[in-house]
Amino acid sequence: MKLQLVPPAEAFRASFLRALREFQHEGLPWWIGGDLELAEQDFAAFVAKKLADANRSTTTAVPKTHRWAIAEDQFVGRIAIHHALNDALRIEGGHIGYDTVPSVRGRGVATEMLRQALPVARALGLREVLLTCDDTNTASVRVIEKNGGSLRETRALAANRPPKRYYWISLLDES
Ligand SMILES: CC(C)(COP(=O)(O)OP(=O)(O)OC[C@H]1O[C@@H](n2cnc3c(N)ncnc32)[C@H](O)[C@@H]1OP(=O)(O)O)[C@@H](O)C(=O)NCCC(=O)NCCS
Repeated sequence: MKLQLVPPAEAFRASFLRALREFQHEGLPWWIGGDLELAEQDFAAFVAKKLADANRSTTTAVPKTHRWAIAEDQFVGRIAIHHALNDALRIEGGHIGYDTVPSVRGRGVATEMLRQALPVARALGLREVLLTCDDTNTASVRVIEKNGGSLRETRALAANRPPKRYYWISLLDES
């Protein structure tokens, strides 16, 4: 699938809101509540907030650059790059996180999102990036490994959860 990574923009309101309903139906916790209620109520404000995340630093949040994947003018996925790690992200989250809209999974979207996000991370000054994923998340493992991820560690975080994999991708060859 041919796709472009772009900053969040109001132009993608309709397909983003359709995707939001798919994500909510799936039930991933990070697609429920919070800012997403704002997306339904005031999409312009939601987009502005996403863009402002790049300059927002709090005791719990580090600056974060969001990119949306667009194919044939439709929102098909999202990827976000943390500009630095904090203690929480070192355990879970890492520098980069992504989701593909459920109805377009298995068509190379996440692989391409991560490929295109790596030069963005490099431009932010990062020399290597941490990606964390569940040991059982076969699709994400493939996405990371196809993008040059090197498995540095697998750690059990809790008895009732799958072990977490810690991958690093070197950006020294990125332009
Ligand atoms: C993980 C996720 C982002 C993958 O997105 P995607 O766009 O479907 O990924 P791709 O199409 O680029 O596929 C990547 C690889 O995973 C494989 N794959 C895709 N879905 C799979 C599945 N359900 N089970 C096993 N492998 C799968 C693909 O075949 C491909 O491998 P290949 O190149 O060897 O054929 C997507 O499943 C998702 O959004 N999941 C929920 C959120 C999530 O887990 N985010 C990542 C957190 S670390």
